[in-house]
Amino acid sequence: MTHTNSLRIDVRENVELAPYTTFGVHAVARFFAEPRTTEELTAVLRDERFLGLPRLILGGGSNILFTRDFDGIVIRPRMDELELIDENDEYRFVRIGAGADWTRTVAETLDRGWNGLENLSLIPGTVGGAAVQNIGAYGLEIAERIVEVECLNPETMQFVTLGVDDCDYGYRTSTFKHEPNNALIVLSVTLSLPKRFEPIFSYKELAHYFGDQTPTQASEVAQAVIALRRKKLPDPAELGSAGSFFKNPVVSRIKVRHLLEDEPRLVTYQLGGGRAKLAAGWLIDAVGMKGKRRGDAGVYERQALVLVNHGQASGAEIKALADEVAAAVKRRFGVELEPEPVII
Ligand code: EPU
Repeated sequence: MTHTNSLRIDVRENVELAPYTTFGVHAVARFFAEPRTTEELTAVLRDERFLGLPRLILGGGSNILFTRDFDGIVIRPRMDELELIDENDEYRFVRIGAGADWTRTVAETLDRGWNGLENLSLIPGTVGGAAVQNIGAYGLEIAERIVEVECLNPETMQFVTLGVDDCDYGYRTSTFKHEPNNALIVLSVTLSLPKRFEPIFSYKELAHYFGDQTPTQASEVAQAVIALRRKKLPDPAELGSAGSFFKNPVVSRIKVRHLLEDEPRLVTYQLGGGRAKLAAGWLIDAVGMKGKRRGDAGVYERQALVLVNHGQASGAEIKALADEVAAAVKRRFGVELEPEPVII
């Protein structure tokens, strides 16, 4: 008879991480595990071979930059079941395993005729990563669709479910990025998908795409988003990147007013509370860094917000380029750029 405690999953040693990240930079994990079920995950966490070692949870590797090897265990959860768990007149409630591929999840919901995720089409990564970092694009953040996030606390081995209000969602951030909840391992995410289709057009470029026509189906919005993304963002299969390398910085409106005096073309988005967001891509472009290369590390020529790996760049080289970009923006505009990916 087997019981959970004796479940042993295959844990590989000295694993090259380049294929598991969208930057594709070289780094080696001392141990690497891909649990397919919660039981397999708990078995890895209980395994005495790895107790006390540094631990890293890797999703789709689309928001991480390794600048060195990882001398510990990398766990890549693969639980990927998608389940309609409830519905009412207005919403469908869908629970998805943390390891499910995000792009495939969006496509699958649309194939089933379920609206709600179309604006977030073609974002690389996993469902778990999406909930941790509150992915957002074209006028929608995943936080707006999240009901709850089911996690495992690896210290106590207890399951905890956080309702959306406990997740502290903000622009590309959540409670899962800060102590103590950054220790939690996301197991599944429950989303509520509105049954009535209402196109979200707050993003100017998306509105422009349709002109005076109004899409009647979510799949039309998805197609538009996919077309816009393909135009501006590199396909990770062809050119390594982590999407936007920097967050759009949030500054006071007074600062914006000063900046506009010198730079009337500055791109800004008004926020509440006397704050405004600046387009980091525009700032980087304005300091002349767009398309610049340092060896194989580069600033993407079609979108200055994206750093790319032209082939053999190391994580450290990409990080050095990021520092150079941030320093140039700081010097010219007095604005700090904060990296979006996790840098190891
Ligand atoms: N711009 C330039 N030069 C550039 C890049 C941008 O002048 O090289 C200008 C654009 O013309 C535009 C403005 O800057 O007026 C903003 O650029 P863009 O529309 O490309 O959007 P973004 O603010 O750069 C954000 C997200 C993207 C998301 C898009 C669409 C962040 C950091 N990035 O980009 O998210 O897809 O909006 O919603 O918030 C990601 O997080 O990885 C990501 C790709």
